[in-house]
Amino acid sequence: MATNRTFTMLKPDALENKHTGKIIDMIIQAGFQIKAMKYTRLTTEQAQKFYEVHAERPFYGELVEYMTSGPIIAAILEKENAVADFRTLVGATDPAEAADGTIRKSYAENKGRNAVHGSDSDENAEVEGEFHFSANEIF
Ligand code: RTP
Ligand code: MG
Repeated sequence: MATNRTFTMLKPDALENKHTGKIIDMIIQAGFQIKAMKYTRLTTEQAQKFYEVHAERPFYGELVEYMTSGPIIAAILEKENAVADFRTLVGATDPAEAADGTIRKSYAENKGRNAVHGSDSDENAEVEGEFHFSANEIF
């Protein structure tokens, strides 16, 4: 069943580069409603678990190190067709391939340090949201 929610993280480079306000504004102006949001920092164990699907990839160690290198902003977003529409707003993994007007085109440094995460399916959006938020933190 399709849901209308997705999960995002503003990654450590977005915070380091002072892009958080601009990125959150892009998300709101694109029609997403913030259902939950927190400023936090992933532990190594949390980052390993979150990106478990990439454990065999050559960039996994670097990815975990990067995602734990500083604080992040995690959020649950709501909009009709949230997962697909948010992936469109985020743009391709590599900013060199991202379309004009996308978050990564505007704010990602490179393919690894790419400013923002967006869930890739309704099922993962739910799992990832629950990973970061308890029911009484979602409004
Ligand atoms: P995300 O899960 O963070 O929204 O990104 P994505 O779907 O666009 O890309 P995915 O394939 O799921 O990769 C997860 C994150 O791993 C880092 N990565 N680095 N150096 C590389 O070749 C490489 N490939 C992926 C990126 O931070 C990517 O967003
Ligand atoms: Mg992904």
